[in-house]
Amino acid sequence: MKSTKHLPLVFFSSLLFSVIGCKPYSAIDQTNVVSAKATTEEQLYRPNFHFTPKKGWMNDPNGMFYSNGTYHLFYQYYPDGNVWGPMHWGHAVSKDLIKWEELPIAIYPDNQKLIFSGSAVVDSKNTSGLAKGKETPIVAIYTLHDKEKETQGAIDFENQDMAYSLDNGFTWKKFDEGNPIIKNPGIRDFRDPKVSWDETHKQWVMVLAVQDRTQFYKSSNLKNWEYLSDFGKDIGAHGGVWECPDFFQIKVEGTNEKKWVLIQNLNPGGANGGSGTQYFVGDFDGKTFTLDAEFAKRVTAEKAVWVDYGKDNYAGVTWNNIPSSDGRRLFIGWMSNWDYGQQVPTTTWRSSTTIPREIKLIKKENNYSLISNPVKEIKKYVSKTTTKKNVKGKGRLSLVAEGKIDLTKAIIEFDLKNIKQDTYTFTLSNKAGESLSFGINNSDNYLFVDRSKAGKNDFSEKFASTISKAALNGNQKEAVFKIILDKTSIEIFYNNGEKVMTEIFFPTEPFTEISASSNQGVEIYNLVTNQLTI
Ligand code: FRU
Repeated sequence: MKSTKHLPLVFFSSLLFSVIGCKPYSAIDQTNVVSAKATTEEQLYRPNFHFTPKKGWMNDPNGMFYSNGTYHLFYQYYPDGNVWGPMHWGHAVSKDLIKWEELPIAIYPDNQKLIFSGSAVVDSKNTSGLAKGKETPIVAIYTLHDKEKETQGAIDFENQDMAYSLDNGFTWKKFDEGNPIIKNPGIRDFRDPKVSWDETHKQWVMVLAVQDRTQFYKSSNLKNWEYLSDFGKDIGAHGGVWECPDFFQIKVEGTNEKKWVLIQNLNPGGANGGSGTQYFVGDFDGKTFTLDAEFAKRVTAEKAVWVDYGKDNYAGVTWNNIPSSDGRRLFIGWMSNWDYGQQVPTTTWRSSTTIPREIKLIKKENNYSLISNPVKEIKKYVSKTTTKKNVKGKGRLSLVAEGKIDLTKAIIEFDLKNIKQDTYTFTLSNKAGESLSFGINNSDNYLFVDRSKAGKNDFSEKFASTISKAALNGNQKEAVFKIILDKTSIEIFYNNGEKVMTEIFFPTEPFTEISASSNQGVEIYNLVTNQLTI
């Protein structure tokens, strides 16, 4: 977490209006503040299809749920500045996970009591008793971070609070009569509750990030919580504080076997520095999460297993209440990193989400892995597809010729055949001489992304000083890449999402060409270029 030392004055004046659920949606001013400078920013850096708030600061995705044909996304939001500030829950909705509509702020802080990360559930059986009529309560459980207490030197300034909505998540009321629902026992980092319904044990289950571990709680009514167990103190990555956990049961692809997955974000100490998202696979008896024995060996060997090996996918968690007829497990992350998120070169808004991803659990070589891929809904925005077969050559090989397609919104897919012990580099470039490269080193067995020449990078020493790497399991004979490009981001899905790397970049003009090179020649069997219209 960041320092909360200096609250801007605007915060205190905005407190006057900090009442939740008091403004109808239509009455809210959705003004898009566009200054002369921001116009350039808009054109260059405002993503085409990754969600960004119109103005202000955003970090973690929060409280995502699906209901009545609508995907809800809330997020850590500071509307009055472009760096982290007093946290609200911003709100956006989508019918297809790709096109987002920003709605009025859902939950406001009161005084110095900030609304930190958390989750929301659809309480369809009214277990909470919050509905007095026929409504279905949507219950949000989040951390209330008491800034004043923190400033006074207390350590129990993070408690778990509840707010609820009786109109499908559009307006919210804090549960003043019962908050906090979990009281801090005297621990400094005690936050980010993720609640979901555990169908196997017929209980609400909560995972909470508590310094260097995850705590498990259960409830029958969302209001009274019983502590169950701890996990993780001695396993996985511990380079920083554990934040934003997630926990769910998932079927192993192609079988009827079910396992439990614990996602556990941490900052710093991520795969390539700064913020990162690790996961664990195991079993849950309704009380204790036990790591799968084979997976435990992998965690020990690799130190941690990551959802994404790029620098820019943090605080990611999954949607609640996806209907079983759909059955997907849908994930979204904050496409940035605490190492430099507050310095990236945009001023009107700062940062975006990743593309929503479907995650699956596979079993391969006797071990479990999460794979992630962009949600299928993105396909409906493909306006033109070009396929080339057997693209081969030595030296620099043009894959997408200068200006052929608009690379600020595109999906490029290609496979490599007959890979030698060599490095295969793919380069996005522009006329300003800037370039972003990524690829596979098949001698030392890793994937990489290098944004050191990709445009602006002097805003933070940590942004481009190292090449990001994802270790591969031995030499690859062939490789399949799917990359999603949206102005300032690349999301690389390798071998059907077995390894993912997400990174942002800030060229001074858009990239217009993609080339490939390797000393021993590049051989691509199938190269598919998809233009998106969005
Ligand atoms: C993660 C995090 C959370 C916290 C929130 C505050 O990025 O530090 O632990 O709830 O951000 O904005």
